[in-house]
Amino acid sequence: MNLTRTQTPSRLAKRLAKPAVVALGFCLAWPTATAAEAAASPLAKRAMHLLRDHCVSCHNPDKTKGDLDLTQRQTALAGGGEGPAFAEGNPGGSLLIQFLKPDSDPHMPPKKQLSDDHIATLSQWITAGAVWLPEELDVKKQAATAEELGDLPGGYRPVFALALSPDDQRLAAGHGNEVIIHGLGEKKSSRLAKLAGHRDVVQSIAWSPDGKHLATGGYRKVILWNTADWTRAGALNGLPGRVSALAFSVDSQSLITASNAPGGAGEVALWNTSDLVKRLVWPAHEGTVFAIALAPDGQSLATAGEDQLIRFWNLTDGSQLKQIEAHSAPILSLAFKPDGKSIASGGADKELKIWDTGTREQKTLITGHPGNVAGIAWPAKDATLITACDDGVVRVCTETGKRPTKSWSTAADLLHCFSVNSDGSAYFGGGDNGRVYVWDKKGAITLTLDGQK
Ligand code: HEC
Repeated sequence: MNLTRTQTPSRLAKRLAKPAVVALGFCLAWPTATAAEAAASPLAKRAMHLLRDHCVSCHNPDKTKGDLDLTQRQTALAGGGEGPAFAEGNPGGSLLIQFLKPDSDPHMPPKKQLSDDHIATLSQWITAGAVWLPEELDVKKQAATAEELGDLPGGYRPVFALALSPDDQRLAAGHGNEVIIHGLGEKKSSRLAKLAGHRDVVQSIAWSPDGKHLATGGYRKVILWNTADWTRAGALNGLPGRVSALAFSVDSQSLITASNAPGGAGEVALWNTSDLVKRLVWPAHEGTVFAIALAPDGQSLATAGEDQLIRFWNLTDGSQLKQIEAHSAPILSLAFKPDGKSIASGGADKELKIWDTGTREQKTLITGHPGNVAGIAWPAKDATLITACDDGVVRVCTETGKRPTKSWSTAADLLHCFSVNSDGSAYFGGGDNGRVYVWDKKGAITLTLDGQK
């Protein structure tokens, strides 16, 4: 029943991600190659996505502005007319960083200013050894339409979304562009179904409260599945962009989608679950909507995203009830307290905040997350909530404490999404490495679920 437990941060969230602290030891200690790669990869991936989105359109083998090709480590090191684009281990001495500063001349990218966070990510990545992951630079993959999208690069199957069945017996998880239905048992799991049909990474998943349908969202598309036999009940095509969040109404009659074209408004739409007719649509946020949470009374909806606002909507007509200027960076996660009187929001500013939904006042600011607060679960009416963070750590927070009170066992990679079962005895986090981690109530990892057989 609790729809707030599926959090769906996304690829953009990852792009906005702050540097992971884990990567820093990499160049100093140089442990075994695989450990070093594992430590460097989330940071390197973020760096690649920044280069992909802001630099390689002008600095690639076909178009080498300033004679510089940034698509490979070697060519970047060879540099252009001004010399090497980066100095190993020395961001301050690297043109690639110097040219990003607001007062730099030349300035890169020529007509844009990267944020301090983005510059910090690239600096840390150079400090950590500047590992290039060329497959992460694929511009075509980013820009192509769904029809033109090829297969995902081998091995990259991040878990951006997951959702539990209402009876807690099954977990639907996106592993890259596939959705795997995992049967959940004591200390072990089984694979019940594999759902194909999305060409790009699955961004969002929701299970209808009556248990009959599963909705999965990808690039411009939602597929509705019959959970009895995993046949398709229907599909929505032609949404503005990737479907960054999904939810069902409490009575399972409506499906709620959030989607935006790159740079466009985040649209929220309401569809009949039965015939997929669109009933309502409205522009809800500037940019991507990363989180949707249905109020526990089922009457209203909270949404949040790139524009740093939390907005509350009347579900019958889509009118705005109120808004909160909540964070100083995109908001990635939301969860209502089960009594509906508070809502928690987690941001790319590493902050977790708790708000009074009546007065809109901030009740608590919780600091101490070293990265994105990618997911929040608020399972019980008591004051305990759990967060999933970019550093792979799950933390226990309280409604009044200023810092997390406990950290749980660390997953081996950064977490994108988070969910909890009804009695709060099992927690599920989706990792960038394609695994779902399962924690018990005491915080031990009891199981990991793979996308592969
Ligand atoms: C719209 C095209 C464009 C984009 C996007 C762009 N650059 Fe450039 N870049 C140029 C041009 C043009 C030059 C040559 C400028 C000059 O010499 O005045 C250049 C030069 C450079 C140089 C110096 C090369 C040399 O040795 O002469 C570096 C380093 C560089 N860019 C890094 C970046 C980085 C890092 C990004 C992304 C954050 C970026 N650029 C994005 C067009 C672009």
